[in-house]
Amino acid sequence: MPKRRREGIQTQPKPSRSNDSSEVEPSQATGSSRDEASKRKRQKTADRVNQANKSFYASLFSPGAGGTKPHYTDAGLHQCADLKLARDKDMLPRDKRARILEFGPGDGRVLKFLLANGYNDITAIERDAAAVGKLRKKFAGRVTIIKGDFTQYRSKTTYDCILWLWCGFSDFSSEGQQAMLHQAMSLLTPGKGKLLLDIARPKSDANVTSIGGDKVYKGGTYSHTRVIGNSIYRAYMPDSREVRHWLLAMKRGGLVNNSRSVDYAPIGSRRRALFEIYRGTTPVVTAVADDADDADEAVFSLALTKHN
Ligand SMILES: C[S@@+](CC[C@H](N)C(=O)[O-])C[C@H]1O[C@@H](n2cnc3c(N)ncnc32)[C@H](O)[C@@H]1O
Repeated sequence: MPKRRREGIQTQPKPSRSNDSSEVEPSQATGSSRDEASKRKRQKTADRVNQANKSFYASLFSPGAGGTKPHYTDAGLHQCADLKLARDKDMLPRDKRARILEFGPGDGRVLKFLLANGYNDITAIERDAAAVGKLRKKFAGRVTIIKGDFTQYRSKTTYDCILWLWCGFSDFSSEGQQAMLHQAMSLLTPGKGKLLLDIARPKSDANVTSIGGDKVYKGGTYSHTRVIGNSIYRAYMPDSREVRHWLLAMKRGGLVNNSRSVDYAPIGSRRRALFEIYRGTTPVVTAVADDADDADEAVFSLALTKHN
C-alpha cells in the first residue's frame, strides 16, 4: 500500500528574543486544536534513535547524577577543544551580535564558552526538563532557553549560526541525521547562516565506541549501543565521507552553499571532525509522516527526492 505523506513548511511564532529565559515552546505557542493536531503529526516524525536516548539523558540529569560533564570530560571536550578550534579557524560568527541557536545545550558547556567570548544573542533548545531547570537558573537573563524538541522547532525569523556539537548528531539514525541537516538549514538565514556540526569519526576511540564493546560495522558506518547503569545510549556514527556525500546532494539542490570540515583529536585517539555548513538559498521543505512507522522512510525519501 502506498505510504501517505504530507509536506510543507510549518511555522510557529518565534520565541522571545529578550535575554530572559523563555517559557515559549513552539508547540504551545497558539493552543488551537489545529495546531495541536499538527503537533501530534510532527511528533510522529521524531527519529526513533533520538527518542530512545531520552531516558539516557534523563538519567544523567536526574538529582544527584553528574550531568554531561563526566562524559564530555571523557571525550576530551572539558576545555572546549571543539569551540576553540571553531574560534581559531574563524568558524564562529565574527559579529558578536550574531543570532545564535544551540541544539541540545545539556549542562551549558557551549553556552558558557559563547558568553565568555562576547556573544549576546543566544537561544538554546533543550528537551530534558531537569536540564532546562538548571540552565534557566545558571543563565538567567543572559540566554533564552526554550524547553522543547529541536526536531520540531519552527521559527519565523532565522538564525545566523546554529551550533550542534559533541555527539548530538550521533543521537539520530542515518535517516534522521539527513533530515536534521534539512531541519537546521530551515532555521538558518538563506545564503548567509551556517551550521557548525561536530561528529566523532568512526574507527576512532570515541567514548561511545570504546565503552559499549558491541561495535557493529556496517557499510562504512557504525551503530552502537552503550549501557550505563539502567540506561542505554544508542548512537549512529556516520563516516565523514558519508556526511560529505549528503552535503553534496544538498548543495546540488541549492540547500547548502558551501561547506568545509576540519579533523581534530581533543585527546589521543578520540578523533573528531568539525563541519562548517553554509545555508543555500533554496527553500527547505519539511516532511510529515501520517504514521509513526513511516517516519524514517518519509524523511529519508524527502532527502532523496528533493536533492538527488
Ligand atoms: C551530548 S549532549 C550535548 C550537550 C552540549 N551540546 C555540549 O556540547 O556540551 C546532547 C543534549 O541534547 C539534548 N537533546 C537530544 N535530543 C534532543 C531533541 N530532540 N530536542 C532537544 N534536545 C535534545 C539532550 O537532552 C542533551 O542535553
